[in-house]
Amino acid sequence: MRYLTFALTKGRLASKTLALLEQVGISCEEMKDKDTRKLIFTNEELGLRFFLAKGPDVPTYVEYGAADIGVVGSDTIREENRRVYEVLDLGFGKCRMCVCGPEEAQTLLQHHERIRVATKYPNIAREYFYNKKNQTVDIIKLNGSVELGPIVKLSDVIVDIVETGSTLRENGLTVLEEICPLSARMIVNQVSMQMETERIKDLIARLRKVVEV
Ligand code: PRP
Repeated sequence: MRYLTFALTKGRLASKTLALLEQVGISCEEMKDKDTRKLIFTNEELGLRFFLAKGPDVPTYVEYGAADIGVVGSDTIREENRRVYEVLDLGFGKCRMCVCGPEEAQTLLQHHERIRVATKYPNIAREYFYNKKNQTVDIIKLNGSVELGPIVKLSDVIVDIVETGSTLRENGLTVLEEICPLSARMIVNQVSMQMETERIKDLIARLRKVVEV
């Protein structure tokens, strides 16, 4: 039997994914060891392999077929725009993609001013402002702690993920506009879907029964 390989997003999504897989009888004991530096883990019995990757790399591994299946946030899927099948909403990792900033920035948005937007998601920001709102903006790509943008006056607003809202609150920022809801999704390589149809469809069917959407 050929291995089915899973690319999981490092961090919170990975632990929730492993918990979900356990509910359908798929476990990977090796992966639970927090101190390990190993990158790839195997369940010989079920013919499965798992590895952890940075979120934006997960759709890349899946598009190229280095992984058959990936679990990643819908923010990353939308930002990366890879040729993969999105097959299942896993119902966890729920949050929202929003335009955020200080309250005063609301008028800049309303008047369609040429504002500066700091974000880890330049494609989502561009799509939203240029195509949906018809507003010309300057997009500044950052790699994290995006909330700093308006505080140190790098940008007027940010486009970022809001989960509990506490990062915004603690930094005097607020949600100004909502772009879309987000959650963890399962993606599949397009060729794997044809070659391993039975195994993959069976997995999707079993997961569908336990996910809470
Ligand atoms: C994400 C996001 C926000 C925060 C939102 O950052 O970019 O900063 O979580 O969560 P909250 O609404 O519950 O406060 P992450 O922790 O992934 O790190 P980063 O800032 O380095 O991207």
